[in-house]
Amino acid sequence: MNKYNFDEIIERRNTNALNTDGFRSYIFGASDDDDSMTFPYEDDEFVRMWVADMEFATPDCVLDKIRERLDRRILGYTRIFSKDYYNAFSSWCERRYDWTFGKEELLTSDGIIPALYDLTALLLEEDEKLLFLTPSYAYFQYSADVNGREAVHSDLINKDGYFEIDFEDLAKKAADEKTKLLIFCNPHNPTGRVWRKEELEKIANIIEENDLWVISDEIHCDLLRKNQKHIPLGKVMPEYKKLITCMAISKTFNTAGLMFSNVIVRDEELRNLWNESHINFENPLSIAGAMGAYESGEEWLEELRGYLDDNFKTTEEYLKEHLPKSKFSISEATYLAWVDLSEYFTPEEDLPEFFAYKAGVLLEGGRMFVKNADCFIRLNLAMPKALLLKGLERVSEAVNNKTNN
Ligand SMILES: Cc1ncc(COP(=O)(O)O)c(C=O)c1O
Repeated sequence: MNKYNFDEIIERRNTNALNTDGFRSYIFGASDDDDSMTFPYEDDEFVRMWVADMEFATPDCVLDKIRERLDRRILGYTRIFSKDYYNAFSSWCERRYDWTFGKEELLTSDGIIPALYDLTALLLEEDEKLLFLTPSYAYFQYSADVNGREAVHSDLINKDGYFEIDFEDLAKKAADEKTKLLIFCNPHNPTGRVWRKEELEKIANIIEENDLWVISDEIHCDLLRKNQKHIPLGKVMPEYKKLITCMAISKTFNTAGLMFSNVIVRDEELRNLWNESHINFENPLSIAGAMGAYESGEEWLEELRGYLDDNFKTTEEYLKEHLPKSKFSISEATYLAWVDLSEYFTPEEDLPEFFAYKAGVLLEGGRMFVKNADCFIRLNLAMPKALLLKGLERVSEAVNNKTNN
C-alpha cells in the first residue's frame, strides 16, 4: 500500500511557475508576454515535459517545517549559524553515500547555476578554458559564455543508446595548458548515466594528471533508479583539494523555487574568495525546508523513486510499441528520458518547435543541450502516470503522422 499520492494532478498556473508560464522565452527565445506567439493549443492544454521540476507535491516533511518556521512570524536577516543544518545534510550524505565532508567546507548558494557562474569567474583567468562532456545541461556552456571564457567539449560516445566517456578525447582536451576547470555532471543530465567507480577513477586520474579544478555537479544524485548507486566524485578523490561538490534538495524534493543549494569547497583559499564576494544571507524558509528533507524525507523519496521507475518502464514499453524506430534505454538516474529520434528527424529540424505545434507537448531537445544532441528529445517523466501517457501518446502520434504524410 502506497503512503503518498503521486497520481494527483496539481494546478500550477497562476503561481508564476516557469514550467507553465516561462516556456516562450526559455524554449523559443521569445518574450513570455508575446501574445503573437500562439500555438494550435491553449497554454493550459500543453502536456509539459520540459524544465526539470516535477508535477508532484513537495512532501509534507518539507512543507511542515516551512509552516513551522512561518509560525515564528519574523523573517528577518538569516544566515546558517547553528550546526544543525550541517549535521542534517552531512548525515544524509553519510547514510546514503557513505561519504562526508568537514563543516568548514560547506557553503550555500542561491542555486547551483549562480554557483557555477561565480566559480567559473573565480577559477579561470580570461584566457583559460572550461571543459565538459556533451550533450550537456546548457548552463555549463552559459557559465563560460557569461564570463567570456572559452568552453571545450568532449562528446560522449553513444553505444546503442548507452553513453560512455571518450577518455582519450577527454584526456587530450584536459592536457591543453589553458584548460583549468572541468564541470562534471554526476550523474549526468541529459543522458541519465550514473558513472561507475572505474569511470570515476579514470576521470580522477585525468583531473589529477592535469591539476584541474573540478566542479562535480551532483544535483541529481538522490534520484536514481532503484538498482543504481551514486558515488560522489569526492569519495573517489578523498584528498584532492581542487574539488567542489554541488548538491541540493531542489530536484529531489521539488523545491527549485526555494533557491538554496550546497556547495562543498575543500580549498580554503577559494572559500575565502567566495566569502568575500557573497553576502551569504539565506532565506529562512529554504533552510527550514532543507532541514525537513534531510531529517525526514527518505521514506517519501524511496516511494518517489519507485513511482519514477514505473514511469520509465511505461515509457520504454510505450515507445517500443508506438515509435519502434526510436532508441531509448532507461536512464540510470534523473527523471529525464533521453530519446533518440534520428530515424524520424533530420538534424536541421527544430524538435521542441515541432512537438509544441504538432503534438501540444512542451519538451527540450537537440541544440538546447549544446552539442552531440541532434535528433534527441528530453522528456521529463516526473508526473502522474495519466499525464505521462497523454504526453507519450501525443508525441508518438505527431511523429507517426509526420512519417505517414
Ligand atoms: C545538472 C544541473 N545542474 C544545475 C541545475 C540547476 O540548479 P539550480 O536550480 O540549483 O540553479 C540543473 C537543473 O536542471 C541541472 O540539471
